[in-house]
Amino acid sequence: MRFTLNGKVVNVRAHPMKRLLDVLREDCHLTGTKEGCGEGECGACTVLVNGAAVTSCLVPVGQVRGARVTTIEGLKRHRALQEAFVSEGGAQCGICTPGMIMTASTLGPSPSLDEIRSALAGNLCRCTGYGGIYRAVQRAGKKKHGGRL
Ligand code: FES
Ligand code: FES
Repeated sequence: MRFTLNGKVVNVRAHPMKRLLDVLREDCHLTGTKEGCGEGECGACTVLVNGAAVTSCLVPVGQVRGARVTTIEGLKRHRALQEAFVSEGGAQCGICTPGMIMTASTLGPSPSLDEIRSALAGNLCRCTGYGGIYRAVQRAGKKKHGGRL
Protein backbone atom coordinates (compact mmCIF):
# COMPACT_ATOMS: atom_id res chain seq x y z
CA MET A 1 0.00 0.00 0.00
CA ARG A 2 1.65 3.19 -1.20
CA PHE A 3 0.80 6.54 0.32
CA THR A 4 2.57 9.67 1.51
CA LEU A 5 3.15 9.75 5.25
CA ASN A 6 4.36 13.00 6.80
CA GLY A 7 5.83 14.10 3.49
CA LYS A 8 7.57 10.83 2.56
CA VAL A 9 6.28 8.12 0.25
CA VAL A 10 5.87 4.83 2.13
CA ASN A 11 5.02 1.36 0.92
CA VAL A 12 3.35 -0.68 3.65
CA ARG A 13 2.63 -4.41 3.44
CA ALA A 14 -0.72 -4.68 5.17
CA HIS A 15 -4.19 -6.06 4.49
CA PRO A 16 -6.24 -3.29 2.87
CA MET A 17 -8.87 -3.66 5.62
CA LYS A 18 -6.37 -3.16 8.43
CA ARG A 19 -7.22 0.02 10.32
CA LEU A 20 -5.11 3.02 9.39
CA LEU A 21 -4.63 3.56 13.16
CA ASP A 22 -2.98 0.14 13.51
CA VAL A 23 -0.88 0.55 10.38
CA LEU A 24 0.47 3.84 11.70
CA ARG A 25 1.26 2.48 15.15
CA GLU A 26 2.34 -1.09 14.31
CA ASP A 27 3.73 -0.99 10.78
CA CYS A 28 5.02 2.58 10.65
CA HIS A 29 6.03 2.78 14.35
CA LEU A 30 4.39 6.18 14.79
CA THR A 31 2.75 5.86 18.19
CA GLY A 32 1.74 9.50 18.60
CA THR A 33 -1.71 8.65 17.24
CA LYS A 34 -3.74 7.22 20.13
CA GLU A 35 -6.65 4.82 20.43
CA GLY A 36 -9.47 5.77 22.78
CA CYS A 37 -12.78 4.20 21.86
CA GLY A 38 -11.93 2.41 18.63
CA GLU A 39 -15.43 3.25 17.39
CA GLY A 40 -15.16 6.72 15.88
CA GLU A 41 -16.59 8.48 18.95
CA CYS A 42 -13.67 10.09 20.81
CA GLY A 43 -11.33 11.65 18.22
CA ALA A 44 -8.14 10.43 19.95
CA CYS A 45 -6.98 8.75 16.74
CA THR A 46 -7.45 11.80 14.51
CA VAL A 47 -5.00 12.24 11.63
CA LEU A 48 -5.17 14.27 8.43
CA VAL A 49 -5.90 12.61 5.10
CA ASN A 50 -5.36 15.02 2.23
CA GLY A 51 -5.62 17.84 4.77
CA ALA A 52 -8.95 16.75 6.31
CA ALA A 53 -9.25 15.47 9.88
CA VAL A 54 -10.39 11.82 10.00
CA THR A 55 -10.67 9.23 12.74
CA SER A 56 -8.07 6.67 11.75
CA CYS A 57 -9.76 3.87 13.74
CA LEU A 58 -12.55 3.87 11.14
CA VAL A 59 -10.40 4.08 8.01
CA PRO A 60 -9.20 0.89 6.31
CA VAL A 61 -5.66 1.53 5.06
CA GLY A 62 -6.79 0.59 1.56
CA GLN A 63 -8.71 3.88 1.48
CA VAL A 64 -5.57 5.98 1.77
CA ARG A 65 -3.78 4.45 -1.23
CA GLY A 66 -2.09 7.38 -2.98
CA ALA A 67 -3.27 9.89 -0.35
CA ARG A 68 -1.35 12.31 1.89
CA VAL A 69 -1.51 11.22 5.53
CA THR A 70 -0.25 13.49 8.30
CA THR A 71 0.14 12.42 11.93
CA ILE A 72 1.13 14.39 15.01
CA GLU A 73 4.77 13.47 14.26
CA GLY A 74 4.53 15.28 10.93
CA LEU A 75 2.88 18.45 12.19
CA LYS A 76 6.03 20.49 12.49
CA ARG A 77 4.56 23.69 11.10
CA HIS A 78 2.06 23.77 13.98
CA ARG A 79 4.65 23.87 16.74
CA ALA A 80 2.88 26.91 18.24
CA LEU A 81 -0.15 24.71 18.92
CA GLN A 82 1.91 22.09 20.71
CA GLU A 83 3.69 24.71 22.83
CA ALA A 84 0.37 26.40 23.69
CA PHE A 85 -1.09 23.10 24.93
CA VAL A 86 1.82 22.88 27.35
CA SER A 87 1.71 26.48 28.54
CA GLU A 88 -2.11 26.62 28.92
CA GLY A 89 -2.46 23.26 30.67
CA GLY A 90 -4.37 21.83 27.71
CA ALA A 91 -3.09 18.33 28.42
CA GLN A 92 -3.20 16.14 31.50
CA CYS A 93 -3.09 12.40 30.78
CA GLY A 94 -2.39 13.31 27.15
CA ILE A 95 -4.39 10.57 25.44
CA CYS A 96 -6.66 13.06 23.69
CA THR A 97 -3.93 15.61 22.95
CA PRO A 98 -2.59 14.45 19.57
CA GLY A 99 -6.12 14.20 18.20
CA MET A 100 -7.03 17.62 19.60
CA ILE A 101 -3.98 19.18 17.98
CA MET A 102 -4.58 17.45 14.64
CA THR A 103 -8.17 18.72 14.52
CA ALA A 104 -7.15 22.21 15.71
CA SER A 105 -4.53 22.36 12.94
CA THR A 106 -7.32 22.42 10.37
CA LEU A 107 -8.79 25.65 11.77
CA GLY A 108 -8.29 28.93 9.95
CA PRO A 109 -6.28 31.85 11.34
CA SER A 110 -7.30 33.29 14.74
CA PRO A 111 -10.42 31.14 15.24
CA SER A 112 -13.17 32.38 17.55
CA LEU A 113 -14.10 30.43 20.68
CA ASP A 114 -17.28 29.23 18.96
CA GLU A 115 -15.29 28.02 15.96
CA ILE A 116 -12.89 26.17 18.24
CA ARG A 117 -15.70 24.58 20.26
CA SER A 118 -17.48 23.51 17.12
CA ALA A 119 -14.34 22.11 15.44
CA LEU A 120 -13.34 20.15 18.55
CA ALA A 121 -16.83 18.84 19.31
CA GLY A 122 -15.82 15.37 18.14
CA ASN A 123 -12.68 15.26 20.29
CA LEU A 124 -13.41 14.12 23.84
CA CYS A 125 -11.28 14.84 26.90
CA ARG A 126 -11.91 13.19 30.25
CA CYS A 127 -9.34 15.25 32.19
CA THR A 128 -9.08 18.96 31.45
CA GLY A 129 -12.62 20.31 31.38
CA TYR A 130 -11.76 21.80 27.96
CA GLY A 131 -10.90 25.32 29.23
CA GLY A 132 -7.15 24.81 28.86
CA ILE A 133 -7.62 23.24 25.43
CA TYR A 134 -9.69 26.14 24.09
CA ARG A 135 -7.23 28.67 25.53
CA ALA A 136 -4.33 26.80 23.95
CA VAL A 137 -5.90 26.86 20.48
CA GLN A 138 -6.76 30.55 20.83
CA ARG A 139 -3.26 31.36 22.07
CA ALA A 140 -1.63 29.50 19.18
CA GLY A 141 -3.84 31.35 16.68
CA LYS A 142 -2.94 34.73 18.18
CA LYS A 143 0.76 33.89 18.34
CA LYS A 144 0.76 32.81 14.73
CA HIS A 145 -0.66 36.17 13.73
CA GLY A 146 1.42 38.38 15.96
CA GLY A 147 -1.34 39.29 18.39
CA ARG A 148 -0.78 39.95 22.08
CA LEU A 149 -0.97 36.88 24.26
S1 FES B 1 -10.19 5.79 18.83
FE1 FES B 1 -10.88 6.53 16.95
S2 FES B 1 -12.48 7.88 17.44
FE2 FES B 1 -11.93 6.97 19.34
S1 FES C 1 -5.90 15.08 28.81
FE1 FES C 1 -6.68 13.16 29.46
S2 FES C 1 -8.30 12.77 28.07
FE2 FES C 1 -7.66 14.77 27.59
